Amino acid sequence: MPVVQGLIVRRMEEQDVPQAHAIDVASSVLPWSEHSLRFELNHNPAARLWVAEVKDESGVERVVGLLVLWVIVDEAHIANVAVHPDFRRQHIGQKLLTRGLLSASEEGVRSVYLEVRRGNQAAQALYRRLGFFETGIRPRYYRDNHEDAVLMTLENLQPDAVQRWEE
Ligand SMILES: CC(C)(COP(=O)(O)OP(=O)(O)OC[C@H]1O[C@@H](n2cnc3c(N)ncnc32)[C@H](O)[C@@H]1OP(=O)(O)O)[C@@H](O)C(=O)NCCC(=O)NCCS
Repeated sequence: MPVVQGLIVRRMEEQDVPQAHAIDVASSVLPWSEHSLRFELNHNPAARLWVAEVKDESGVERVVGLLVLWVIVDEAHIANVAVHPDFRRQHIGQKLLTRGLLSASEEGVRSVYLEVRRGNQAAQALYRRLGFFETGIRPRYYRDNHEDAVLMTLENLQPDAVQRWEE
């Protein structure tokens, strides 16, 4: 597993799109297209796009994770989150969510929603760790294999509580 050094989480920029897209392709059977990522970045005023970036042994920056949130007044929806397979279980997903949801909470977001595949235990474990709980099921939601979606919600999001996730 590559050593994580110099990890930062920052807003996605145009030049990050190809690397972010490659991570999504490696992480999802229904990845977003580069066009969709560019649309979210440039044309969706509700979208907040983040990347996690590390430095390799030569000090060169590399994008290893992405997060897309949709923010509507006091609610946010986690539209996409993924970490490159070679960099998982090093708290990068957690840091992405912490940074993105801290920023959202500072904008006034108080509730966060998402759908996750019933079989995706890794993501569900991460979300539960941050305080999300299961609120429902959308039967046969995913069009590739008709897997159920589990709906998860985080209520009463507050900036000081999000900051404590990293402690
Ligand atoms: C879900 C995902 C983003 C997690 O990213 P990650 O950087 O590996 O997760 P983290 O290292 O931040 O995990 C933080 C905590 O979540 C839980 N967790 C994460 N992955 C887990 C796994 N595979 N099994 C069990 N628990 C897991 C653990 O509690 C972990 O803390 P610990 O390592 O100290 O025990 C990553 O697995 C991924 O990209 N999956 C494919 C895309 C995807 O499923 N996206 C979510 C769609 S809803």
